[in-house]
Parts: sequence; C-alpha cells; structure tokens
Amino acid sequence: MMVHTSETVRLKFFIDLLMHKRHPVMLVGTSGCGKSALLNEKLNSLSEEYAVCNVPFNYYTTSELLQRVLERPLEKKAGKNYAPPGNKKLVYFIDDINMPMVDQYGTVQPHTLIRQHMDYGHWYDRTKHTLKDIHNVQYVAAMNPTAGSFTINPRLQRHFNVFAVSFPCMESLNLIYSSLLDQHLKSSSMKFNPTLTRMTEPMVQAALQLHQKVAATFMPTATKFHYIFNLRDLTNIFQGLLFCTGETVKAPIELLRCWLHETQRVYGDRLLEEKDLEMLTKLQVDVTKKIFEIFLHLRRTRQQMVFALLCNTGKNVKYDIHLQAAAETPCCTKHVFTPLTLQELDETEVMAKPNVFCHFARGIGEPRYLPIKSWVDLNAILQDALTTYNELNAAMNLVLFEDAMAHVCRINRILECPRGNALLVGVGGSGKQSLARLAAFISGLEVFQITLTKEYSIQELRSDLANLYVRAGLKNLGTVFLMTDAHVPDEKFLVLINDLLASGEIPDLFPEDEVENIVSSVRNEVREGKRESSRVESLRHSPNKVLAPPYEAFHHHELAIAVNSASGPVITLPIFWVG
Ligand SMILES: Nc1ncnc2c1ncn2[C@@H]1O[C@H](COP(=O)(O)OP(=O)(O)O)[C@@H](O)[C@H]1O
Ligand SMILES: [Mg+2]
Repeated sequence: MMVHTSETVRLKFFIDLLMHKRHPVMLVGTSGCGKSALLNEKLNSLSEEYAVCNVPFNYYTTSELLQRVLERPLEKKAGKNYAPPGNKKLVYFIDDINMPMVDQYGTVQPHTLIRQHMDYGHWYDRTKHTLKDIHNVQYVAAMNPTAGSFTINPRLQRHFNVFAVSFPCMESLNLIYSSLLDQHLKSSSMKFNPTLTRMTEPMVQAALQLHQKVAATFMPTATKFHYIFNLRDLTNIFQGLLFCTGETVKAPIELLRCWLHETQRVYGDRLLEEKDLEMLTKLQVDVTKKIFEIFLHLRRTRQQMVFALLCNTGKNVKYDIHLQAAAETPCCTKHVFTPLTLQELDETEVMAKPNVFCHFARGIGEPRYLPIKSWVDLNAILQDALTTYNELNAAMNLVLFEDAMAHVCRINRILECPRGNALLVGVGGSGKQSLARLAAFISGLEVFQITLTKEYSIQELRSDLANLYVRAGLKNLGTVFLMTDAHVPDEKFLVLINDLLASGEIPDLFPEDEVENIVSSVRNEVREGKRESSRVESLRHSPNKVLAPPYEAFHHHELAIAVNSASGPVITLPIFWVG
C-alpha cells in the first residue's frame, strides 16, 4: 500500500503533467527509496486509454530480448507502422535502467535501442532488416545511481526528464508508517482495545529511531556487504505488526513485545556476529527506554496510570512536569500527550526471553500471530507437526532443539508474508531444507524443487517457473519454491530468480497465446473482485519462495557477484544464518 507524502505528491504532480504530454520521465534514487512503488502506483491508476508494459532490466538484458519484450504488446498497422491495439497509449516502465552489462566498447546495447527509438521513432526488424515505425508509446524509467553501470549514456539520458528521489525524511516516514499502523489499530474489524489504538505514535517513533540507529551502527563492509537497511526493512517490521489483531494482542506491552520480536527478525537475523547481536539488543533497550520510559517515570513518581508521550521532536523534555502544565507550555504544544492506561510495564518483563511470535503458537490450523508460551510448549506442537509430516512424506529425522525451532518459526513467518522470500545461509547439513519443508508444511504450502539433469538449461528453468506461476497464480495453490546452490549450475539462473524476486515479472515467460488464455481465465475473478489486479499481471502473485544455498558453496564472494550482476532485491531478502 502506498501512502502519499509531500515528496511523493510533489513528484507525482510533475509525473502526471509530463506523462500526459507524453514526455519520458526518469526517477533516480538509491535502492529502497520508493521509486518503483511510486511509479507502479501511478501506472496502476492510469485510465483505460493506457496500457502498461513492465520492462525490468538486469545484467543480462540484451537489446534483442528488449526488442522482443517491447514489440510484444504492439500490433502491425498500415505499412511499416506498429502501435498498441486500438487507440491505446502504451507506457513502457523500464525499472533499473542502468543494470545491463556494459560491453567492451562502453556501449549498453539495450540503451542504444531505446535511444534509437527516441531519436528517430523507429527500430529495425531483426530478420527482415526493414524499418518499423513505432507509434503511441512512451517511456518511464527508474534507476539507482549506486548500482549497475552507475550512469547511463547522456545521449539517452537527455531524452528523459530526470527527478531525484531522496530517502523519505523523518516526517514522511512518520506519516507513512503512522497511517499504516493507525489504520490497522483503529479498524473496527480488528477489535483492538481502545488503549492500544493510542500506541501508534510511540510505536512508529520507536521503530524509526531504532532504524536510524541500526543503519548508522551496522555499516556494510567487504564481509558484511549485506548490511544494508532501507525502507523495505521498515515495511517488513510493520507488516509483522499488522498480523496482530485485537484478539491476539490485548495490552500495550504485548504490542511492544511484538515490535521487539519483529525488529529482532528483520535486523537481527541478518547480523553475522554475536557482538553485533548484542549491540542490537542494546539499541533495542535504549530506544524502548527512551520512548517508553516516560511512562515508567510517571508511574514511579506519581503512581499515576497516565502515559505522556513526546513525539515528533527528538528534544528531551523533562518528564515529570505536570501533564496539564506541560500541555499548556508553548514549547510543548508540538508534542502529543496521550493519556494511556497501562498495566505493569518494567524492563525485565518487556525484554523477557523467549520472545518469539509465530502463526502456530496455539497449535497448527489456528493461524493467529501469538507469542509462544515456552520452548517446551512449542516443541510439543512442532513434534506433532513433524510426525504428521513424516506420515505423509518421505520421513525427516529432525531433532528439534531450540535453534531449530526458532528457525522454523522464522521461516514460517516469512512464508506467511505476502510475497515473502528468504535466503538461508549455513554450513551443509545444518538443516536448511528440512526446516524449510517443515515450515512450509505447517502453513499448508506445497514445496517445489527443480530436478537438475545434464540437459537442464535456462530454458527448462523458464518452463518450470512458468508452470509454477500457473499453479500458484492461476490455480491458487500456495507453493514454496525451494532452491539450493546445487540448483544453480549457471549464474544466468540467478537472473531469472532475481526478476522473480524483484518484480515478479520474468520477461518473455509465456508465449503470446498462452498469455491470452491466462488473462481470459482470470478475467471473471477480477471482475468479481476476487483478485486485486485488473491488469494482466494478476499472475504476479507468484509463489512464496525460499532459496536455501549452503554456506560453503555459496560463500560471500559468489554471493557478492550474484548480487552485483543481478540488482538489489537478492541482497534485501531476509537472510538467515542457519546453524
Ligand atoms: N510512500 C510510501 N508508502 C508506503 N510504502 C512505501 C512508500 N514508499 C516506499 N514504500 C515501501 O518501501 C519499499 C521499497 O520501495 P521500492 O519502490 O521497491 O524502492 P526502489 O524501487 O526505490 O528500490 C517497498 O516495500 C514500498 O512498499
Ligand atoms: Mg525498484
């Protein structure tokens, strides 16, 4: 869901104007600052007279592949003219435009094709060598100047109206996540306790402050190159909080603990060293104290069940000023004072271990996001699940010690998220695949793996993925795509996986007639409102996926290459260190 802030509204104003006049637009900004989100929202809200064609770029995009993708939605008109069907205007959305490989002459071939089209309005038929005039199409693009080839050729760039997208400021972040959480907490169907509905402000403040501290403390280095924290992580934290309902979370402390759990998952699971984890706990305690201590202090000094929250500024306002007086003091009027009745809240209780939330804490088949009661309790549930699994499938002989159970909860949490993907990293034999299978079984998801043979090439992977899309997207069979490093004989395989993770769009996956079939078979469901998307990409709601490469074979160096040649998303997957 997109929340508009002053920055996005500003940008959208210009994008609207320019797109209406059919001028090409390009957004430039670092990974995870919301470029794709903004453009996708704009493209989805275009009127019926527009058609949209998504063209995500990656390292291996060639001009030939690009031309095929660009030509697909066009039809032949009179003579050498080509245009979208009817009087539609076609918008090509080129995401990550600077990702393709730079050849030895310094040319990026796909760019040259686009430039030729923009300069002359035509390109050539590759087999007949005849001219094709292309009409009624326009471009929007996004690029990240800190990845891929960094810049694009000025002869191409000059055609675009370029806008910088900066990482949203604190105010915007506050707005985005307050809107998300507030809407959830106040929704009547969620039936939250009224005291909880006032938790939005401190929760968002705490999340933003912690995010800032985490991003400033854990910097990427050569061995910790995946220490990159951006909007996606914040979104994941709130995604977790949105699993809570009035039934599962009754007191503020429970919501607070859920937030602590989510931050532990989103940030903690990515950290490599014990000392980084300790540092994270310290940051969590610091932030929690800073934001929520006000309450503690008041309670201690006055035994009042009143909670004053100081939000929006980082200023340290004296806590023990009388509430009324504080509200009347001009310098404090900016702060929001929220009276809140809280139950007992002290640090040991807030930070108590284990703090693990999962969807099966009260038994499988009762999906509610709740904290586990104890490890023993969880063990009994998982043993049951394992026994049932073993009755139905090839038996797995798993010993469910604490870490293994924690991993199952982590993997399951990701699988339950819409389009949740994970990269499990650990030495061979640490149980990545088995634990992932168990986690998938708990959520009632099927597991799909490719069968690698000598002849298995990228073509076979394409058709496997196409089948997977049909199963998951069309037939609605929840599926986990489990891939290990042994399944990646060729680096190009990762490019398909990258497309799958980045946008869900793998160019050229289905032949033209099949796309028609697929669209017509979901058309009714779309009409009846059972599916969200009214566009062809209804198949985007692709399978849940877990990639599980063992650590030794897929060590940092190779992962770094994969990440460099693919684009951002691989690196922004939740990564687990199993074992
Ligand atoms: N204004 C916004 N409202 C809600 N979510 C946003 C907003 N801007 C960005 N996001 C979220 O931030 C994450 C990263 O955005 P994305 O567009 O993928 O980044 P980019 O394409 O710049 O790398 C996405 O999960 C998106 O949902
Ligand atoms: Mg993007």
